[in-house]
Amino acid sequence: MKLHACLLTAALLALPAIDALAQTHGNDKPAAAAAQPAAPKAQQPAKPDAAAGEAKFTATCVACHGAGGNSGIPANPKLAQQHPEYVVKQLREFKEGKRQSPVMQGFAAQLSDADMRNIGWYVASVKAKEGFAKDKDLVALGEKIYRGGVPDRQIAACAGCHSPNGAGIPAQYPRLSGQHADYTAAQLVAFRDGARKNSLQMTQVAAKLNDREIRAVADYIAGLR
Ligand code: HEC
Ligand code: HEC
Repeated sequence: MKLHACLLTAALLALPAIDALAQTHGNDKPAAAAAQPAAPKAQQPAKPDAAAGEAKFTATCVACHGAGGNSGIPANPKLAQQHPEYVVKQLREFKEGKRQSPVMQGFAAQLSDADMRNIGWYVASVKAKEGFAKDKDLVALGEKIYRGGVPDRQIAACAGCHSPNGAGIPAQYPRLSGQHADYTAAQLVAFRDGARKNSLQMTQVAAKLNDREIRAVADYIAGLR
């Protein structure tokens, strides 16, 4: 979307300039102006089509992931406002079996690369609904782990990669803020126990977290905004 807007702005800005050029040089040096080679176009894949992504999403995915990807079901991740590159990576890896999920592998298998990109750019454009931390006893521990890690066990601070407010860092580090605690906890357990093997970085981070720490940090993340 941003790229699209940029290109559009650039094109609009360039128009009067081209006009002016044509008017100044049009009469005296038409041949020279015509001989100007066209600016080389950068080699880019076709632009993602968020409207097509919305149509596809609404036809199949909405039942579990909610309107616009704002899932209301704790086991189903919110996708709204997630970085599109991360969404595409996950869909591709479900399709290839690199990330396993009996539910998602079937749905991802039916998507083309273009579908994945269109859906990714669509959900990224939807604003995420905020979540809340629920466990008063654990949230302070969760905050400590999120912001500072557990230095004496070499557990890295989550904030270092996922940013202090959980917005993530495009395109590498996914957004976590507001995610359902049940989903986040399940993913951390899956990384730790080797059921989710599509990120060495996260396998290493989760390896040393115990169940209580996982519950705490997942709860804290649900309330991040
Ligand atoms: C029947 C329910 C269901 C449907 C329908 C469904 N999903 Fe999912 N989706 C899930 C569940 C459950 C997970 C979590 C899988 C796991 O445990 O790793 C998930 C995970 C994902 C993830 C990974 C999110 C993350 O944060 O890593 C993406 C992306 C995704 N789904 C996209 C889609 C798209 C696109 C469609 C439609 C083509 C779709 N899903 C249809 C249930 C569903
Ligand atoms: C060194 C960088 C790094 C650190 C530190 C880190 N993460 Fe991650 N995390 C990642 C990357 C990269 C991914 C994307 C994995 C993928 O592509 O599937 C990720 C993915 C995740 C996911 C899956 C998101 C989803 O939607 O399925 C969760 C949950 C998560 N991290 C939680 C944490 C928590 C909690 C901590 C701190 C205890 C943490 N991370 C620390 C790099 C990091």
